[in-house]
Amino acid sequence: MCGIVGYTGVDAAAELLVAGLKRLEYRGYDSAGLALVEAPCAAGAADAAGAADARDGRAALDIIRCAGKVAGLEDELATPGRCTVARLATCGIGHTRWATHGRPTVENAHPHVSCDGRIAVVHNGIIENFAELRASLEERGHVFKSETDTEVFAHLIEEAYQGAPNSAGGPAKTAGDLMAAVREACTHVVGAYGLAAVCADEPGVIAVARKDSPIVVGRGERGSYVASDVITLIDATRDVVVLEDGQFARLSPEGITYTDAQGRAIEPAVTHVDWDVDTAEKGGYPDFMMKEICEQPRVVRDTLVGRLASSGELDIDELGLTPEELSLVDRVYVIACGTSYHAGLIAKNLIEGWARIPCAVEAASEFRYRNPIITPSTLVVAVSQSGETADTLAAIRDARIKGAKVFGITNVVGSPVARESDGVIYTKANKEIAVASTKSFTGQVVSLTLLALLLAQTKGKLTTGQIRMLFRELGDTAEQIQHILDTQRAAVHEAALACREARSALFVGRGMGSAISCEGALKLKEVSYLHAEAYAAGEMKHGPIALIERGFPVIAVATKSPTYDKTVSNLKECEARGACIIAVATEGDEEITRVADHVIYVPPVRDALSPITATVPLQLLAREVAVLRGCDVDQPRNLAKSVTVE
Ligand code: M6R
Repeated sequence: MCGIVGYTGVDAAAELLVAGLKRLEYRGYDSAGLALVEAPCAAGAADAAGAADARDGRAALDIIRCAGKVAGLEDELATPGRCTVARLATCGIGHTRWATHGRPTVENAHPHVSCDGRIAVVHNGIIENFAELRASLEERGHVFKSETDTEVFAHLIEEAYQGAPNSAGGPAKTAGDLMAAVREACTHVVGAYGLAAVCADEPGVIAVARKDSPIVVGRGERGSYVASDVITLIDATRDVVVLEDGQFARLSPEGITYTDAQGRAIEPAVTHVDWDVDTAEKGGYPDFMMKEICEQPRVVRDTLVGRLASSGELDIDELGLTPEELSLVDRVYVIACGTSYHAGLIAKNLIEGWARIPCAVEAASEFRYRNPIITPSTLVVAVSQSGETADTLAAIRDARIKGAKVFGITNVVGSPVARESDGVIYTKANKEIAVASTKSFTGQVVSLTLLALLLAQTKGKLTTGQIRMLFRELGDTAEQIQHILDTQRAAVHEAALACREARSALFVGRGMGSAISCEGALKLKEVSYLHAEAYAAGEMKHGPIALIERGFPVIAVATKSPTYDKTVSNLKECEARGACIIAVATEGDEEITRVADHVIYVPPVRDALSPITATVPLQLLAREVAVLRGCDVDQPRNLAKSVTVE
């Protein structure tokens, strides 16, 4: 949550930073801001707008902030007479915020500035001891201008920069050295931070720190760059350094140097990024959500590449478990949040069904506060698109302390989930920008299906022939998704019109259909703000059916499965009470038209693989309803793509 950018080089920074922030808006969009380091100018000179310059020949910081989206910064920068000098600055940092401490106001927008106005910081993360730090800083005379936790960083850095004794009470070695002052400030802070700081007395320098919050830096032909996501760097460079916890970077127009917490020089590994630039653009689609829904056939194919050896055995060598360890697994927990949790619900059916291993799916935020039964033969599977969800990470750490092997399924190479797990499968979805997960869900389900097959193979529950056949059918879902995208858009539109004015909707299904319904309901509520709830179809008569009145939308996953007839019976009960029924059904199913008002068809596929295809119409439906209701499809209110707070 929250996005950070920084640039120092030869070009004007403001426009670059705003463009970078726009790519990061998926991380939060409550407020935004820039700190630009204006070049020093001669004492008594006038600025470009003709105003007398009060900077006494020193460089100055210009802080530009707005409540709401990054576009507000463009308005500020375009205001005549405003930012005339700042727009020429070649060094600056920027931030787009998802509010944690303090409301989304201009005052709480980053950057935050020291008392003397010479140091500015942007921060992603949470400072857990901020109340005590703030109290002691105030005792020492610092005046706070915001409600945020981040502002303590500005004042701590200021003290160190001015030469206050270090945290151990010893003499300061940080006076007049921004990088050293940032390192010192970090010793006081408990919590998570990705941080970038600038100082008007060191124009051109950006000091960067990282602990439990992603930071990427890179060197391009025209300067040095920092961001909380590589997506903002790919225009400038493909070779980036993903900082590790406790590493620091000092950026200048000439280059980047790295140090550890003691200030010793280090040489971190360089990662090459091969995403295409299109990933960061809409590529002709009306929104990222639509683009990402349409990318799902590719995601299926890419996630499967190289997974089946010519011997017919599955090949997941990144698992981090030996075949012997794998064969001993006698319990699986899938831990995840939101959409990733729903992928886990599907995995439970597959792991228990194929491998006959008990599998529980738990919200990561709950798992860590229970005392789950974990033994050395427990496998914990952590699923996270972003790889940085705080609850999931905390649950991983907890599980490892308790002795479990942890296997991560994530979309982000080098993310904390990948690094802190014993093994990892990457979902190959490529960057997902829309806040609502679509293609990454499909990548997760495909990866979890592979894992279930592998467990079944290891336990001897499926033959090589069966695995080969299931693998082939798994691959076929790519074309089946494409077929849905090509043929069902009009049906989805009709169904969406029926939901447009509703206040609430129910999603129902049985077995796999029940798990798919959970994802359909989440998608609809997060992008269209329409209340939606998922219910096992057989449970309707135990309460929720009381909600049904004329026109109430009931969205049913009614694909051909062993429980199809029972699902249809449940739908008839809803129909009899006036519900408007929208069914996702299997091509060729005419019977469903007798009960459903609207039908969206998917190709026939075995029940175990049905989530990969049957979720797609529900993604399309949620998006279509959101568009009809005039919602911001890619950036729904109150949400952020990466949830790095607990
Ligand atoms: O990055 P993660 O997969 O760990 O994120 C988990 C949830 O925050 C995420 O799936 C969220 O529910 C999505 N917005 C749903 O579309």
